[in-house]
Amino acid sequence: MLQDRFQRVHDYLRISLTDSCNFRCTYCMPEENIQCMPNAHLMQPDEIETIAKIFVSLGVKKIRLTGGEPMVRKEFAEIVERLAKLPVELTLTTNGVLVHQYLGLFKKAGIRSLNVSLDSLKQETFFKLTKRDKFQQVWDNIELLLKHDFRIKINVVALNGIIENELLDFVKITKQLPLHVRFIEFMPFAGNLWDSSKVLTAQKMLDMVKEEFDVVKLKDEPHATAKKYKAIGHEGTFAFITTMSEHFCGSCNRMRITADGKMKNCLFGKEEMDLLGTLRAGKEIEPLIRLSLYNKHAALGGQFSPDYQKAEADKIENRSMIKIGG
Ligand code: 5AD
Ligand code: SF4
Repeated sequence: MLQDRFQRVHDYLRISLTDSCNFRCTYCMPEENIQCMPNAHLMQPDEIETIAKIFVSLGVKKIRLTGGEPMVRKEFAEIVERLAKLPVELTLTTNGVLVHQYLGLFKKAGIRSLNVSLDSLKQETFFKLTKRDKFQQVWDNIELLLKHDFRIKINVVALNGIIENELLDFVKITKQLPLHVRFIEFMPFAGNLWDSSKVLTAQKMLDMVKEEFDVVKLKDEPHATAKKYKAIGHEGTFAFITTMSEHFCGSCNRMRITADGKMKNCLFGKEEMDLLGTLRAGKEIEPLIRLSLYNKHAALGGQFSPDYQKAEADKIENRSMIKIGG
C-alpha cells in the first residue's frame, strides 16, 4: 500500500504519454514556441508497462492516460493494449479530436469512461481557445461515444470572460444528454499568465446557474475532486472542481508520471523523482516511489496558500500543464 505521512492512501496513477498536442490552448501551454521532448526521452511502451506494473503491485487500482494529447503518441494503441492487461480501471483524458480512430481499441481494452476537454460550445470561441477549427469533430466524437454507451465527463476550464457566456449552455446540454460537465477553476502553471483576478470561483458559477435552473446537490464519491450537482429533470450532471477556492488535498489519492518518466506526487509539486532514468540504469524504482510519497506536502504542493487570492504565480516552481500531463 502506498501511504504518505498524512495517512492518505494513493491508488490512482496518471501517466502522461506525450507532451505534444494537436491543439494550442493558452492556459495549458506557454505562448512561445515550446520544444517537444525527443522520443528517446519518453517512456517507451515496454517501460510504461514495467513502471505501471510496479505501481499496480503497490496497490494502484486506477490508471488514467493523459498528455498533452495522449492519442497523438504514435505508440498509443500499443500502450493501451499493454495496460489493458493489468488489473486496473483504465481511462483517459483527451481533447476528443481523434476519438473516432480508436473507438474499437477502447472497447477491446475495456475502457468505459473518458474525460473530454471542451471549453466552449461555440465554434468561433473554440477556435480562439485551441487555435484549431475542430469543434464539430470533437462534438461528433462526443455523440459517437454516447451512442456507444461510454460514460463521458466534459472538462471545462472556467476562463474568465468566456465561461460567463457559456455556463448556462453547458448546463442546458445536460438536459437531454447524459453528460457530466465539470467546471474547473483556472489554476496557475508555468507560462499560463495566471493571476487571481482571472479565477471565477465555483460559488459564483453556482449562483449563476441557480438563477436559471432548479438544482440539487448530489453525493460526491470518496476521492472526488468535483462537487456534483444536477438540474432537476436533466439526464446529465454538472460539477465544480474547486482547486483554487476550496482545495480537496486532504483526500488526495493521486500520483503522476510525466511523459519523460518523472514521478510527481502532486500536480503543483516542484519535486520530481526520475523513475525512468533509474529503471534504465537497472535499479529498483520502488524506493523512489515511496520517497516521493514521503515528501508529499499536505496541500497544493506546499507552493501556495489555500487562500488563492494570495497566491503569486511567479513564485510557483512547476512545469507548464502540457509538460506535466493533466
Ligand atoms: N487550469 C484548470 N484546468 C486546466 N486544465 C489544463 N490546464 C488547466 C488550468 N490552467 C485542464 C484541461 C484538462 C484537464 C486535465 O486539466 O482542460 O481537461
Ligand atoms: Fe492540449 Fe489538452 Fe493542453 Fe489543450 S488542455 S493544449 S487540448 S493537452
